[in-house]
Amino acid sequence: QTGPLRDTHGRVHRDLRVSLTDRCSLRCTYCMPEQGNEWLARQSILDLDEIERVARVAAAAGVTTFRLTGGEPLLRKDIVEVVRRLALIESPEGPVQIAMTTNGIRLGEYLPDLIAAGLSRVNISIDTIRRERFHELTRRDRLDDVLEGIAAAAASDLRPLKLNAVAMRGVNDDELVDLVAFAISQNAQLRFIEQMPLDAGHTWDRTQMVTRDEILSALSERWQLTPVPGRGGAPAERWTLDGGHHTVGVIASVTAPFCGDCDRLRLTADGQLRNCLFSTTEYDLMPVLRADGADAENDIDAGIDRMLRSCVHGKLPGHAINDPGFLQPARGMNAIG
Ligand code: GTP
Ligand code: 5AD
Ligand code: SF4
Repeated sequence: QTGPLRDTHGRVHRDLRVSLTDRCSLRCTYCMPEQGNEWLARQSILDLDEIERVARVAAAAGVTTFRLTGGEPLLRKDIVEVVRRLALIESPEGPVQIAMTTNGIRLGEYLPDLIAAGLSRVNISIDTIRRERFHELTRRDRLDDVLEGIAAAAASDLRPLKLNAVAMRGVNDDELVDLVAFAISQNAQLRFIEQMPLDAGHTWDRTQMVTRDEILSALSERWQLTPVPGRGGAPAERWTLDGGHHTVGVIASVTAPFCGDCDRLRLTADGQLRNCLFSTTEYDLMPVLRADGADAENDIDAGIDRMLRSCVHGKLPGHAINDPGFLQPARGMNAIG
């Protein structure tokens, strides 16, 4: 089979999120327990060649953006090489874009090499800019390191620079305006995220989630918000602030899902393809990638292509977070990416 990765609901897939590790340098309470998770075994993690191979086949099938995620992607020792290899891939649409989602720690140090290797964009997670609160929320006293990473990204040419903040009731919902003001000072676009049921402890509770409407109402106290038209397939709805050129975004995955426009697939660090954050099925590439005595290299590529197409074919119209029988996926966000 050839042609783009179109699913049975007409959505064409152009974005592959590649999780490079399930480990992280922080321990955000909504994501991981203090002691961390049971990490993936080293031998089950895709190496550089395997990642490149899957990416190359995906690009041939029309994927144009690779987003490197984790866990924390900068914990991968070969991160610069991963960016370099993927940036050299061409899709039928032209050169690919390489983006990264990171917690910002050590970003400053890596950034020149990442940019030289071909990184196009970076999104940085920052849920609070208050030191004590950061320490409590992430269980690590590393706000300064994150701020350093953000400053380095702000000083670079990577644009748009996006900052992600999960809005949480009783945790950071009193600092939404401060977070936006901070983003403006960094020439970055802040995006607030509705918390989704993806925590390792499976303790998500709808009442703890700060909704899109609540976020907008808090921001409206300070700025006049004007919707930016043309969201495209992007997860964030955006608004300009007081009619200026700065914008704020909200990713309302729970109360206003964007599944109908979803163009993404995921590859976990241990070689599983997923068609949705919330899918309960994974498509295992390992037997394809590590087949013993595979006759020809081409067989592996054909196998990856087939697996990509089955994965896309099996995609449901959307997540079922709001349905009565919803079951959270077994893996947390740190292992999905
Ligand atoms: P951009 O291309 O810059 O818009 O990236 P992104 O927003 O897709 O990626 P990022 O890794 O920065 O993710 C930010 C937030 O978007 C995550 O915290 C999730 O809440 C949400 N998100 C990312 N991917 C998905 C997805 O496939 N489905 C849903 N429902 N939410 C997602
Ligand atoms: N719901 C929404 N966003 C989450 N993230 C991690 N866990 C969740 C969740 N349960 C965010 C991180 C990071 C982005 C990649 O995903 O804070 O900004
Ligand atoms: Fe796509 Fe699933 Fe996310 Fe919806 S929840 S946008 S279908 S990955």
